[in-house]
Amino acid sequence: MLEKVTTTINQDLCTGCGLCVQLCPMRTLAMMDGKAAVIGDLSLNCGHCAAICPEGAITVAAIDEDMSKFASFQADQNWLPYGDFDTAQLVRLMASRRSCRNFKDKPVDESTLQDLARIGCTAPSATNSQLWTFTILPTREAVLTLAKGVRDFYLKLNSMAEKRVLRLALRLIGKRELDDYYKGYYEFVKEGLAEFDRSGIDRLFHSAPAAIVVGCKRGASLPKEDVLLACQNILLAAHSMGLGSCLIGMAVEAMKNDRKIQQLIGIPPEETIYSVVALGYSKEKYKRQAGRKAAVVRRFES
Ligand SMILES: Cc1cc2nc3c(=O)[nH]c(=O)nc-3n(C[C@H](O)[C@H](O)[C@H](O)COP(=O)(O)O)c2cc1C
Repeated sequence: MLEKVTTTINQDLCTGCGLCVQLCPMRTLAMMDGKAAVIGDLSLNCGHCAAICPEGAITVAAIDEDMSKFASFQADQNWLPYGDFDTAQLVRLMASRRSCRNFKDKPVDESTLQDLARIGCTAPSATNSQLWTFTILPTREAVLTLAKGVRDFYLKLNSMAEKRVLRLALRLIGKRELDDYYKGYYEFVKEGLAEFDRSGIDRLFHSAPAAIVVGCKRGASLPKEDVLLACQNILLAAHSMGLGSCLIGMAVEAMKNDRKIQQLIGIPPEETIYSVVALGYSKEKYKRQAGRKAAVVRRFES
């Protein structure tokens, strides 16, 4: 998403090295009389120019410095040079993150949840749009408000899916979704809903005491990708902070099909939800990493 330029260059500090000009993806900066100058009207406001300037001569007003400050840990704001991180430790973190389906009845500090939202924002976004939104549900009560909306949706969906004639009629006109749902999920969902009513076992949110619902405002070119990249950051950071996490696709599906659910948790109708991350302290302690199936990895040369 191209925006108005908010870059300013302090001409007294600029030494004319040209690094910012070479880097600018929009060609918004150019050399003028031996110094860098803003010549274009449009910008990604990506901040690469300010980040590379050896003299600290550049500011990008659209960038909010507070987004790099965190309450629950001391952030190191120095840029980490290429190759200066322990890959083995990074991969260990990635491979140790597990979807948690057994949360303890223990609240998560709201400052940690706020930090996780900011950590999400360190992800890339298409044309740097950063139109994502993070709705923090800091209590079990808030999670249950969302769960109720999702539950009502699945109750309605299941009662539709039970109607064989309706399923077949929809199939005949090329709409297979209801029949596919019936074959793949109906029984599982029915049992999950009944179990919740019977014994309060929460198969949807796994008794999570908190969640972050991640959506996007209108205008992003690739909103789903932006949101899911932010979420992967949240999942990894959560693990490093001692928290378990689980993406709740079942809730996303419900919110996609019934736009009123998001209003139950204060999300305006013009936003679209692409991810729900359940968060809390995990009851599980694994003995080893879980591993993955063999993947298709091709190579093509010339
Ligand atoms: C897009 C997406 C949606 C998911 N939705 C759910 C869900 O609704 N409920 C759930 O328990 N797990 C959900 N998961 C978790 C997956 O089942 C889990 O990632 C997978 O089994 C691999 O396990 P791992 O995350 O521990 O590596 C979801 C994962 C993804 C990526």
